[in-house]
Amino acid sequence: MQQIADSYGHHFEFSEQLIGGAAIDKTGNPFPAATESSCRESDAILLGAVGGPKWSDPNASIRPEQGLLALRAALEVFANLRPVEIIDALADASPIKADRLQGVDLMVIRELTGGIYFGEKKRDEESASDLCIYHKYEVERIIRVAAKLAQKRSGKLCSVDKANVLESSRFWRDVTVKTMNAEFPEIELEHLLVDAAAMHLINTPAAFDVVVTENMFGDILTDEVSMLAGSLGMLPSASLGISSRGLYEPIHGSAPDIAGKGLANPCGMIASTALLLRHSLGLDAEARAIEDAIRSVIAMGVRTADIAAEGSRIASTTDMTDAIIQQLR
Ligand code: IPM
Ligand code: MG
Repeated sequence: MQQIADSYGHHFEFSEQLIGGAAIDKTGNPFPAATESSCRESDAILLGAVGGPKWSDPNASIRPEQGLLALRAALEVFANLRPVEIIDALADASPIKADRLQGVDLMVIRELTGGIYFGEKKRDEESASDLCIYHKYEVERIIRVAAKLAQKRSGKLCSVDKANVLESSRFWRDVTVKTMNAEFPEIELEHLLVDAAAMHLINTPAAFDVVVTENMFGDILTDEVSMLAGSLGMLPSASLGISSRGLYEPIHGSAPDIAGKGLANPCGMIASTALLLRHSLGLDAEARAIEDAIRSVIAMGVRTADIAAEGSRIASTTDMTDAIIQQLR
């Protein structure tokens, strides 16, 4: 961000706030009030992944992930855009055969503030439940975001659900059909069941363009499709609401197993800043400069271990980050 400011003559004001484990340690709260008010005052938020072994007891009443979910809910960033582009030079890094990757350019839109993540949770000695609830306005607004993106792209939209089993999915499908017929009749709409979608996304990924789905299906499917791009570490995301304020984060987690070793791939985070520039600050040329810099550095062979070509030198997180910044100069 600082290099973009320097190269393009912008001035950005940064403020750093705590969330997740670091916030629990300091304040006892994974989403402190100071963090919330600073986020509300900002045009955009760039988020470092939460979670780690120190706070990993799933039965603890206070957990880092609660901070992330509370932040998404507080900002009402209901539309999570997870683009998947294949960088040609990385075709060999993907476990999927290179010919299947030809022409893959996906945009997965994950509903982010509803569904099973946020429904009522109950537990006693004998049973536990998580309610998956969707309201009409929640489905309508995410479908509108997806349809508008489809208009700008191929004119096709694929909605993923589990309508053969779940009532919430049958509802999702009905509201989707009504919204699309009424507002976007020109868009070609297709429905897929999530299990079939998981298979087709790997088998024929190039057949997809814009995919829209509910919160948990989107969580799972985007980890899956990240492997098309070669590594979970490559993928950025943008979470948007009704204003231009957005939350930007790589789709990967905190990867505690490699923390502090210089092994983490910085591309997902750096590409998230590109999305931030584009969607919240309206700086598209600057965003493209970052995306081009990432592509160039990868083509030059400066790559972290997760995407390094066999037998080639492995770059550290800092090496790769510096190379991208250098490219922006
Ligand atoms: C993601 C992550 C989060 C999610 C976790 C960390 C709560 O997996 O952003 O995909 O499930 O939404
Ligand atoms: Mg996830």
